[in-house]
Amino acid sequence: MAAGGFWDGKRSAMTQNEQKEILLLAVESSCDETAAAVVANGRQVLSDVIASQIDTHTIYGGVVPEIASRQHVEQINFVIRQALAQAGRQLTEMDGIAVTCGPGLVGALLVGVSAAKALALATDLPLIGVHHIEGHISANYIEYPELTPPFLCLVVSGGHTNLALVRDYGICDIIGQTRDDAAGECFDKVARAIGLGYPGGPKIDRAAREGNPHAFEFPRTKVEGAEYDFSFSGLKSAVLNTLHQAQQNGQPVSVPDLAASFQWTAVEILTEHTVQAARALGVEQVALAGGVAANSALRQRLKSACEADGIRFYVPRPSLCTDNAAMIGAAGYYRFVRGERADMTLNAMPDLPLGDRERRYHANAGARG
Ligand code: KG4
Ligand code: ZN
Repeated sequence: MAAGGFWDGKRSAMTQNEQKEILLLAVESSCDETAAAVVANGRQVLSDVIASQIDTHTIYGGVVPEIASRQHVEQINFVIRQALAQAGRQLTEMDGIAVTCGPGLVGALLVGVSAAKALALATDLPLIGVHHIEGHISANYIEYPELTPPFLCLVVSGGHTNLALVRDYGICDIIGQTRDDAAGECFDKVARAIGLGYPGGPKIDRAAREGNPHAFEFPRTKVEGAEYDFSFSGLKSAVLNTLHQAQQNGQPVSVPDLAASFQWTAVEILTEHTVQAARALGVEQVALAGGVAANSALRQRLKSACEADGIRFYVPRPSLCTDNAAMIGAAGYYRFVRGERADMTLNAMPDLPLGDRERRYHANAGARG
């Protein structure tokens, strides 16, 4: 595809559409939050409703996929109705329905996708399939109305750790990714091991405030030959070994010190990779996204490292970092104005890859424009 023609067509379509207010109903159910939102023009959130399943999964120490699916089924209609009511809008006033179609837990995704398809079929509204991680990145558009691509985005969630060069709305190149555990997964596993429980990330964040980040020295693993890739399994094992050794020697170990030292190391790894990539690519803007972007230490450290290098830094408020549907409405808007539409064959895609390939071949099979 010739780049010039593609860009030209997209820009003119966007100019026409931007003159009118475009309202999207957005639905998200990829993991353990059932969420719906109404978003105007991709940036203005008229409502943002989230039914969290944290209390249910806490008993099991982590998300149980089958229970997550069932709870989504129980909550989805209520959450969608609430989102419309809080926005003060009718379903018939919407211009389209955007839904997360992947990646995530297949049974969880299916609930949101089925609900969105049923509503689209009943109302004849356009349906837009959205990549969950593209949603996380797009939370930054809600927080910063002035932010436009290109920028480098560090996406850190429970299932993903990516350095994405966002070239345009919904179009990015992955320049770094984790080779093993995702950053959030590492926070969750370490939290469980040191007795903090689920959900691990916020609990480590809190415990670390009382601890010494230099009490223990943990490795900052580099991936040979792939300088922007991440590896967190060595860090996780080092924390576990420290804990086991102390237990075997009958020595007490300070949980706040362990949490603080682990968090400090993880934050350093993430910051170092991001700033190095930003320098090498010559980008002027860096954004942070995903559930781990709610981490207080990461927000502060990456902000000061970027600013020291003269790079503008963006991060959404914590409630827009963790899973929500407003971010799906933001990402869906830019697909909508490009004329991308999914048809009734849209399905849950648990392993949906991020990037240009996905945009053309999967999420919106019936794409136009
Ligand atoms: O994006 P998200 O809500 O769901 C996924 O798409 O995975 O991310 C959830 C992840 C979990 O691993 C959770 O522990 C982590 O984000 N998280 C945090 C914090 N809040 C949530 N990690 C570190 N510090 C936090 N404050
Ligand atoms: Zn997420």
